[in-house]
Amino acid sequence: MIERAAGRGNVLQNSAHWRLVMSQRKKICINTGGGDAPGLNAVIEAVTMAAYNRGWEVYGIKSGYTGLLNTEEIIHLTPDKVDGIASIGGTILGSTNKGNPFMMPVCNVAGECEQRDLSDKVLANFRRLGFDALVAVGGDGSLDIAHRFAAKGMPVIGVPKTIDNDIGGTVISFGFDTAVSIATEAIDRLHSTARSHDRVMVVEVMGRNAGFIAINSGISGNADVILIPEIPFDINNVCEKLMENELRGHKYAIVVVAEGAVPMGGDVITKRDPELGRQHVILGGMAEHVAKEISLRTGKDTRSMVLGHLQRGGSPTTFDRLLSLRFGAAAVRAIEEGKFDMMVALRSPEIVLVPLEEALSIQKRVLINSDTVLTGRDLGICFGD
Ligand code: F6P
Repeated sequence: MIERAAGRGNVLQNSAHWRLVMSQRKKICINTGGGDAPGLNAVIEAVTMAAYNRGWEVYGIKSGYTGLLNTEEIIHLTPDKVDGIASIGGTILGSTNKGNPFMMPVCNVAGECEQRDLSDKVLANFRRLGFDALVAVGGDGSLDIAHRFAAKGMPVIGVPKTIDNDIGGTVISFGFDTAVSIATEAIDRLHSTARSHDRVMVVEVMGRNAGFIAINSGISGNADVILIPEIPFDINNVCEKLMENELRGHKYAIVVVAEGAVPMGGDVITKRDPELGRQHVILGGMAEHVAKEISLRTGKDTRSMVLGHLQRGGSPTTFDRLLSLRFGAAAVRAIEEGKFDMMVALRSPEIVLVPLEEALSIQKRVLINSDTVLTGRDLGICFGD
């Protein structure tokens, strides 16, 4: 019996089909970089399962690219490790927005730091560990790093992640739908408290230099005023709109402000980053500024609030969950087809591959003549211009 079974095994293992399967076996890895976004775990689950079902091995790299510098913490991803994680927020692999191996801050014992290019070490570790491909899940910063590694010979496939929705080449990045849903729910809740006190509530949402979260949540949440980076605002126009409302008996108002909104002839408001070596500025404070100006100019009782990281937390919406699963599975199919230096992208209804270079060359912003902006104007929403 045993002999017969072993014999069958040998026949199978000597067959052309088995040799083909073995020759196509791959060992791939995945990392998640930049700010977290709902859907990251769903991408990890899909990549793991799609690879596992092809007989491949999958490894999770911790904390963006830094896990390829210090390789002790690399995790072997198996179905039991990813079972059911698609519905959970955050990333089981951890993330960082300070881990650019091409400009890594290296500090001595005296605390003096300098930026060094450690990309060769990352590439050497990738090759030493026998990886055939990296699935790089991230925003424009992480995808730019992925593209630079592709230029050095690393087979890389990118997956677009950001709540800001500012990555070019794709209709939408995962995480955005969840952030908009959270912001819309918050705005809905602000209506009743604003109405009860005849107050102006000014709410600041994320998005960096793109106004997608603000405009989508603002229109859906029935805001009176929406201020986005793409349309510089004049505070006089905002106050005029609120006073017009008042005359019509609408005594409370909701003002949605993107963190990157700019006054005409002015600039964004930024906060100082206390951490050394930080590459990007932290935006924030425009809602408070706008609220003070409204209160001063109209005498209305006004409050401001910042939604902040609530927009990135918790379970992904069904849309984000499915998009992330589709992106992850498509990334594995791209590896199977030998297509690298590309990004999976949504061109509704299809998932397609876009060269990373092309995606990175586009700074996606709200188009001021887009249907969404026109819809807002038709609804009587003021954009401050
Ligand atoms: O890019 C995503 C994002 O949440 C932006 O909307 C926001 O400006 C930034 O990250 C905040 O970064 P951090 O988590 O480092 O404060």
